[in-house]
Amino acid sequence: MQHLKLSELMGSLSYALDLTEGQPHGHCIRCCWIGMSIGQQIGMAKEHLWELYYVLLLKDLGCSSNASRICELYLTDDLAFKRDFKWVDGSLPQVLRFVLRHTGTSAGIISRFKALTEIFTNGDAIAQELIQTRCTRGADIARRLRFDEPVADGIHSLDEHWDGHGRPEALEGEKIPLYSRIALLSQVIDVVNCSDGLEAALAEVLSRSGTWFDPALVEAFVSVAGNADFWKTLDSADIDKTILALEPGEFEKALDEDFFDDVAEAFGQVVDAKSPYTSGHSARVGLYTSLLAEDLGISQARQRWLKRGALLHDVGKLGVSNTILDKPGKLTDQEYEAVKLHAVYTGKILERVHAFKELAQVSSAHHERLDGKGYPLGIMADQIALETRIITTADIFDAITAERPYRGALPIEKTLSIMQESVGTAIDPDCFASLKSLIARHPEFFPNT
Ligand SMILES: [Fe+2]
Ligand SMILES: [Fe+2]
Repeated sequence: MQHLKLSELMGSLSYALDLTEGQPHGHCIRCCWIGMSIGQQIGMAKEHLWELYYVLLLKDLGCSSNASRICELYLTDDLAFKRDFKWVDGSLPQVLRFVLRHTGTSAGIISRFKALTEIFTNGDAIAQELIQTRCTRGADIARRLRFDEPVADGIHSLDEHWDGHGRPEALEGEKIPLYSRIALLSQVIDVVNCSDGLEAALAEVLSRSGTWFDPALVEAFVSVAGNADFWKTLDSADIDKTILALEPGEFEKALDEDFFDDVAEAFGQVVDAKSPYTSGHSARVGLYTSLLAEDLGISQARQRWLKRGALLHDVGKLGVSNTILDKPGKLTDQEYEAVKLHAVYTGKILERVHAFKELAQVSSAHHERLDGKGYPLGIMADQIALETRIITTADIFDAITAERPYRGALPIEKTLSIMQESVGTAIDPDCFASLKSLIARHPEFFPNT
């Protein structure tokens, strides 16, 4: 897997972050093009461009961590909220309009009133909390991905504004890391350009020059925007290839097997942070998968490979709203269809990484069943690999033992008797036998034993 480049890996995984932000497909990739063009325009040194490149691709690493809180506070769909919030310029009329439009629009009148009262009373503290969580988590995950402090800092200060009215630290002017200033500017340009076109994007950044944005960077962008090729590349279907070629390669980090483990773990954490009910889920499914794979005689190298697939199996959940994931009641048919899409998203995200093609298939099939009644493809037993069956067994076990929005956690004995009913139809008999034997031999790895 050594021939895989860091830029290909992070560029591909950035599509998972687009899902969480409710942004159009390819948002982070386009931000990378916009920001790198600005960086080159102001004459940044190559090693700084390398760091900027990863700040731009990974700026939304912390985004899943406040999704659940947004739903709870605003009684609303976190994906639409995050998408539309990028439009709010911070002026009081705009903030008010945004809050009224987004708060509890499908909730009952009393809940909506309570939520609005809470927001108008504590709006400032709430915004601070949401952004603080996102910044801190984003920077932490960047460090887990082995990036140095300048990259972590760049992600941490993404929401700071030039005039000192940003968050979380109200940094002003050049005290804001340059990478963050460029990333914020690039983000707004992409959001406005995608919905209203380039003239609107230019007008928007000019109107916020000196308040949100560093005027020198706005000026640099105006020069960049005068080049028709810049816009052509931004709109092209091949932008991924352009971005891959853009990374200053001489600062490339070695991608060893340990690094892949760290990447899978870090993105598993991004997924787990999305909902309080999935807290630790990917990590536990990773652990149970390793134990089962070892017990079933899978080779060490393949076990390690499979654990990554287990850590990433629900990465597609980043594209499902928390109003559905955290719903305390039964899901409607439409909501269930939205949940089912997460398996499709997992496949699509992982298969973008050339070296993850097989892992994408194995991992995204974790809701398939031996009797063909699973999803997303409804394939039969003969098309479901042993590796997938292992992840499925680990996943079902954790889903039942963990607390859910609609019920508390279930004890192991009860979990096993529920699972027993699906052995042979959904759960592989050998995997289930191995699970039972592992629980008996190694209770220390399992909860409530
Ligand atoms: Fe799943
Ligand atoms: Fe899962």
